[in-house]
Amino acid sequence: MFKGVEADQAMNSDRQTPPRAFIFTFGCQMNEYDSDRMARILAERGFESTRDLKRADLIVLNTCSIREKAVQKVMSFLGRLRPLKEDRPSLIIVVTGCVAQQEGEKLLKQAPYLDLVLGTHALHRLPELLDWIMTDRRPVCHTDFEYHLPPPPPLTSGDVRVRAYLTVMQGCDNFCAYCVVPYVRGREISRPPEEILTEARDLVAHGVREIILLGQNVNSYGRGLEPPVTFADLLTRAADLPGLKRIRFTTSHPKDLSPGLISAMAELGPVCEHVHLPVQSGSSRILKAMSRGYTRADYLDRVEALRRACPDVALTTDIIVGFPGETEADFQESLDLVSRVRFDGMFSFKYSDRPITRAARFEPKVDETVKSRRLAELQALQKSITLELNQALIGQRVQVLVEGRGKRYPDQLTSRTRGNKVVNFNGPDELIGCLAYPLIVQAWPNSLVGLLPDAESDPAPRKAGRPSS
Ligand code: SAH
Ligand code: SF4
Ligand code: F3S
Repeated sequence: MFKGVEADQAMNSDRQTPPRAFIFTFGCQMNEYDSDRMARILAERGFESTRDLKRADLIVLNTCSIREKAVQKVMSFLGRLRPLKEDRPSLIIVVTGCVAQQEGEKLLKQAPYLDLVLGTHALHRLPELLDWIMTDRRPVCHTDFEYHLPPPPPLTSGDVRVRAYLTVMQGCDNFCAYCVVPYVRGREISRPPEEILTEARDLVAHGVREIILLGQNVNSYGRGLEPPVTFADLLTRAADLPGLKRIRFTTSHPKDLSPGLISAMAELGPVCEHVHLPVQSGSSRILKAMSRGYTRADYLDRVEALRRACPDVALTTDIIVGFPGETEADFQESLDLVSRVRFDGMFSFKYSDRPITRAARFEPKVDETVKSRRLAELQALQKSITLELNQALIGQRVQVLVEGRGKRYPDQLTSRTRGNKVVNFNGPDELIGCLAYPLIVQAWPNSLVGLLPDAESDPAPRKAGRPSS
C-alpha cells in the first residue's frame, strides 16, 4: 500500500514537507462529491491540498463529458499542464471522471505526459495505482466498471462547512437519446441506506447542517436493494438525524416522481421544498425523440400534483434547445411551458452531439446560430420570471440557513432559503450554521438582499406556518 512517507520520499526527497495534491473539478455535483472523496483518500496517504498548480506534486483533473464544450475545456487545461511536467518529470498527472471513462487509453496517446487515466468506478484505487506509477513510472489506464462504491474515508476536522453533497446512487439506466451519463457512469446502483446514514452522521458531527443527496435519478433510489427501500424511506430516516437541519436532493426524473416522494417532502421538516425537475423540452414530439418517457401533458400534471401537495415548492429545471429536428414550433412549446410553470430557476443548454449516443445520428441537425438565438430567448424569458418571483419575496421574512461569509462581500453573511435562493445580509459570525429569518428588502435575478430585524435565530425546523420560500 501507498504510504504518505513513501510518497514524500518518492516525489521530493530533498524536502521535509508533505507532498501536495491539486484537484480540479469540472462538471456536476457528483464530480464535486467524488473530488472530495479523493481529497480525503489522498489526505489519508499524507498529501496536503494546494490551490497552486506550480507547487503541486500530484494534479488530478476530475472531468465532465456532458457536452463537447466541457470536453474541450478539459483538453485545453490538460495542454497547459504539459510544460509543468517537462519542467518537473516527478510531477504525477491524473485524469479521472467522465472524460477519463469515455476516452480511456486514447487519452494516454493524446497526452503522453499523463500518468493515470482513472475511470468513474475506480476512485478508491487511486492510492494503489499511484504506488504502482511511482515504482514503475509507466502510464496506467484503469476504466473497468466495478459496480462497487466503498464509503469514503471519514472527514478530518479541517473539513468543516455547512452544506455537503452525499452521493446515494451511481449511474443511470434511462439512456436518454442525447446523454453520455449511462455510458460513462454505468448502470444504476444504489448504496445501502445504513452506509449513507453513517456518512451523513459523520458529516453532521463535523459541522455540516445541510446535506444534498445526489443521484442521476434519485426517485428510483433503492431499486435492487435487499430489503427493499425507497427514496422516501431514505429521506424519512435521514430527517431523523439529530443536528441535521436541512436535506435536499437532486435530480428527480419527471417520469418517476412518486406520490411517496411528494408527501415525504411535504411532511418531513428538514426536507426542503425544492425539486429540480428537468423537463428538457416543452414539445411532446421532441420528448419522444429524446426517449424521456413522458409527454408535455404528463409533465404539467406532475407539476400540478406537486404544487397541490406542497404549495410553496420551488421548481427548477433543465432545458435543451436545438435537439435534432427541433422546429420553431417545438421551441415555442418550450417557451410556452416555461411561461406556464414559472420555474424559480433554469439551466439551459444548446444541444451538443455526443458521438456515443443515439441522437448523434439523428437528423436534421439545428444550425448553431439558430440554437444560440433560441438559447438567448429562453434565458431572457427565464431571467424575467426568476426576477419576478424573487421580487415577490420583498417584504417577507424567510427561513435561511447561514453558510458563511460572502466571497465578494465578506462583510455580509451568505445563506439560502428553503427554495434554494441565495440571501445575503449583515450579521454576526455566530449565525454561521444556524437558521435565521431575515426580512427580504431587495431582489436580483441571482440573489436576494435581507435584513435581520433582531438577533432571532435557529428555532426548530417546521412545516406548518413556515415563512414561504
Ligand atoms: N440526470 C439528470 C441530468 C444529468 S445531465 C436528468 O435526467 O435530468 C445535466 C443536464 O445536461 C441534462 O439535464 C441536460 O439538460 C443536459 N445535457 C445532457 N446531455 C446533453 C447534450 N448532449 N447536449 C446538451 N445538453 C445536454
Ligand atoms: Fe442522462 Fe437521461 Fe440519465 Fe439524466 S436520466 S443522466 S439525462 S440518461
Ligand atoms: Fe458531467 Fe459526468 Fe456529471 S458527464 S454532468 S461530470 S455525470
